[in-house]
Amino acid sequence: MVETIYRIPDAPRLALLADLHGQDYRLAVNSLKQHQPEIIAVAGDILSRFYLMEDKSPLDTQKRIMPFLCASAAIAPTYLSLGNHEHILDGADLKRIKETGVVVLDNSWIKCGKLVIGGLTSGFCLSYRAFKEFVDFGPDTSWLAEFAAVPGFHILLSHHPEYYPLIPEGIELILSGHAHGGQWRFLGKGVSAPGQGLFPKYTKGVYGRMVVSTGLANTARIPRLFNPTEIVYIN
Ligand SMILES: [Fe+2]
Repeated sequence: MVETIYRIPDAPRLALLADLHGQDYRLAVNSLKQHQPEIIAVAGDILSRFYLMEDKSPLDTQKRIMPFLCASAAIAPTYLSLGNHEHILDGADLKRIKETGVVVLDNSWIKCGKLVIGGLTSGFCLSYRAFKEFVDFGPDTSWLAEFAAVPGFHILLSHHPEYYPLIPEGIELILSGHAHGGQWRFLGKGVSAPGQGLFPKYTKGVYGRMVVSTGLANTARIPRLFNPTEIVYIN
């Protein structure tokens, strides 16, 4: 895991974590303890879709999730938005996550001093809640204009970087993951990413108002190539 640092004018000192996918979180937590960010943004896919058992909560079958969230919340105020893998969480699971102290931003926002922090839920969660189908009919962007109109510096956690064109002006910083850096990276570009296909546009780095993390884990059957996992800091 590498630590990547970007400088964004007016932004708070924050950490961006994405795509933990239920894997070992100790390196990430040690890094957070060293850097002591003002806020921790977890931009989705803390879960893996594996280890699902019908009669058990995924928070019980994926045993690293709750300890990771507790550890993060003990370091700094932690905000979580829902990625595609979080479609398996139900209301009771989200309530348990909130009890760790982590703020769950499920198509919602919260004002903290000068910051207005929102979370744009993955379209996969919406379709799964409505139809039990794992497909992406797109996110619910209906609340974003109201969010953007609240005075302050707006940070939107949006797991899917391909949603970028849907996000209105007035949101200063968008934090994403999901692309896993394009899995293989050559000449600074990724090869393939979910939701973007071959030679994806948004895989790692700063794109205008959006910062994309390559994520903290690998869940694909093929290994990552020239594409280390990362934790992103914004100073
Ligand atoms: Fe994802």
